[in-house]
Amino acid sequence: MFSRFKKPEAGPAPSGMKPVQSSGPVAPVAASTPKPQASMSRPMPAAPPPKTPAEAMAFDKEKKKKEKMQELKVELHKRLLDNLNLAALEKASESSLKSEIASITAEALDEMSVALNAQDRGVLHQELYDEVMGLGPLEALLKDETVNDILVNGPRRIFVERSGKLQLTDITFKDERHLLRIIDKIVSAVGRRVDESNPYCDARLADGSRFNCMVPPVAVDGSLVSIRKFKKEKLGVPDLVRFGAFTEEMAAYLQAAVATRLNVIVSGGTGSGKTTTLNALSSFIDNTERILTIEDTAELQLQQVHVGRMESRPPNVEGKGAVTQRDCLRNALRMRPDRIIVGETRGEEVIDMLQAMNTGHDGSMTTIHANSSRDAVSRLENMIAMSGIEMPIKAMRSQIASAVNLIVQASRLQDGSRRMVSITEVTGMEGEVISMQEIFRYERLGVESSGKIIGRFNATGIRSAYSDRFRQWGYDLPAAIYEPIV
Ligand SMILES: Nc1ncnc2c1ncn2[C@@H]1O[C@H](COP(=O)(O)OP(=O)(O)OP(=O)(O)O)[C@@H](O)[C@H]1O
Ligand SMILES: [Mg+2]
Repeated sequence: MFSRFKKPEAGPAPSGMKPVQSSGPVAPVAASTPKPQASMSRPMPAAPPPKTPAEAMAFDKEKKKKEKMQELKVELHKRLLDNLNLAALEKASESSLKSEIASITAEALDEMSVALNAQDRGVLHQELYDEVMGLGPLEALLKDETVNDILVNGPRRIFVERSGKLQLTDITFKDERHLLRIIDKIVSAVGRRVDESNPYCDARLADGSRFNCMVPPVAVDGSLVSIRKFKKEKLGVPDLVRFGAFTEEMAAYLQAAVATRLNVIVSGGTGSGKTTTLNALSSFIDNTERILTIEDTAELQLQQVHVGRMESRPPNVEGKGAVTQRDCLRNALRMRPDRIIVGETRGEEVIDMLQAMNTGHDGSMTTIHANSSRDAVSRLENMIAMSGIEMPIKAMRSQIASAVNLIVQASRLQDGSRRMVSITEVTGMEGEVISMQEIFRYERLGVESSGKIIGRFNATGIRSAYSDRFRQWGYDLPAAIYEPIV
């Protein structure tokens, strides 16, 4: 019956785990998979506890149904793996595979005397398809456009981030083994391996999403997975202004800063919108310039014509072949760049980045993990010190002061909103201290009963130290943008 995909009779039937691993690079395909169907494992916050007896009964019924479906899925998945010829699957079209899954499922359900309505059957088919070809329970979340981050804390707890807020979903893996199998599928597709001796790994899913995992025993309560979803449509400056991340006045200032080739650092905490801001700022770069981007995981999507993208590479399983951001940066300097953009400066590449900014590649940009602009400067100092370069503190600071022109601070506030809380210029040195002046800031005024933060962006009243430069380059910003609202 399953002529095209049925496994040849000869040879032992594999156990539940192996064949999926061997399906190799077909695994993490999320972008090209179809729109989600109505799914029983739709991501949503954990159901609130039932209040009335009727609600309790319905809750119990729903819970039992879910458990039954989970058992059914495990059994059917096993049968699928026993029956499908995985080598043939790689070339199969999605529709023919789905109809194959439907017929194998129908036969198995008949055999088990299980009756399911059309909707449940549809859900089951989709989940089995995701299990065989995709990333199992994670597929529905990867397809959900409203989800930014997926965070797995062991097989039973999967959180998502929507609109800056973390929510627990009702999606689970069957057990740790199931979770490990999906992790293995992802990392083996990029030629890596995780196990006890190699317990963590960075990877990129086929749709561009950034992936990190850490497995037991280092992860104490089950494997930890973090996925930053890749957005095909990156937020641009108009979107960010519309969402209240910064004002039009700030956008005009930033445009002048980027277009007149100031060196910019976007500083912020984790998930505060640094990469998004960097990407949006890059839209102010002229289309004629040659831009080279260097990242650990390629996330930036520049719109210019002349862009060369580089991605660093960790060592392979034998510990060889690593290409660090620093290697890419050093090589980039020989590639005649007009501007260099480093996705995140976090280590020894800092020295080369500062030197590049100081020596003819002005207009370069990077992000840095820090909680304020002052903190960003300290982080730079620490990174220089950690890179093993012996340099007196004053020399170190003057190197930073002459390389960095602008620090833009991104922040995710308690209510989940992401805002550019400060734009600060680095103006030089005073004695041993780097002098800075804040031009714009976000002022918090209070908090609504719903938890939403009330605040406004304001100018500090200080005129930019680069106003003359802006004017000479044709960006004559009105003096009014520097005037504070009182
Ligand atoms: N102003 C904003 N409004 C709404 N969503 C935003 C905003 N800025 C960023 N985001 C979303 O927040 C998520 C995190 O953003 P981003 O990847 O830029 O953060 P990051 O600071 O670079 O994170 P990491 O520290 O993990 O590198 C993304 O999904 C992005 O689309
Ligand atoms: Mg980032």
